Amino acid sequence: MPVTTQQIMQWKQQGRAIAALTAWDYALANVLDEAGADVILIGDSLAMVALGYNTTLPVSLDEMIHHAKAVRRGVQRSLLVCDLPFMSYQESVQQAVHSAGRVLKETGVQAVKLEGGNPTAVETVARLTQVGIPVMGHVGLTPQSVHRLGYRQQGKSQAAGEEILAEAIALEQAGAFAIVLEHIPSDLANQITQKSTIPTIGIGAGPHCDGQVLVTADLLGLSQRQPPFAKSYTNLRETIAQAVRSYTTEVRERTFPTD
Ligand code: KIV
Repeated sequence: MPVTTQQIMQWKQQGRAIAALTAWDYALANVLDEAGADVILIGDSLAMVALGYNTTLPVSLDEMIHHAKAVRRGVQRSLLVCDLPFMSYQESVQQAVHSAGRVLKETGVQAVKLEGGNPTAVETVARLTQVGIPVMGHVGLTPQSVHRLGYRQQGKSQAAGEEILAEAIALEQAGAFAIVLEHIPSDLANQITQKSTIPTIGIGAGPHCDGQVLVTADLLGLSQRQPPFAKSYTNLRETIAQAVRSYTTEVRERTFPTD
């Protein structure tokens, strides 16, 4: 049975942890889906891990839609959420409805994610929810604001923590079905998780969230640089390099192919 937004909200009530990962193409998404990822996010981190940009800012809505369509074709079960990229929703609520509507209509994903918890973001989430587009929020470190925030941990002071908590609650009240908490102190993530009725999905936010998400390039050991909180479960960079070295050696030695 395909995972739905209602299902992951129920899992929070049942204490069933949610395992989320990112994907950017058909083959990867197909493996993640078959291996049991509950949520697959077509994150705008694909700008960095799949397209080679230094930040997430350059990726366009058309590019996100292109990647989301490929991911959709590989997935049967996982809930699919697609990031709205930088400047595809910040100009106005109308722009956000237009962009999110395109994402749902053209790709077949079930939900969108957008960054921030300021009053405009909250109003945007309310409007998208009202027109039937499920929204995942994202507070704490928001990479689309890298030129304002850097990649530093957020919410370290009492005041900054209270602000992030207030943003999370406002997003929930506006109708968000889940919320990503990125790079904030573990006790703040715990507090938000206790106070909210929607699932919190942590990345660099400690063990107390209702679920966790990793950028799959980091999980696989494919990234050249990765954040301090990411965990690699294998070193695919080395595995691929070893396979390529074996292949090039065999071709040059004329031992592959054989008759
Ligand atoms: O773009 C992305 O991959 C994300 C995750 C880090 C949550 O937003």
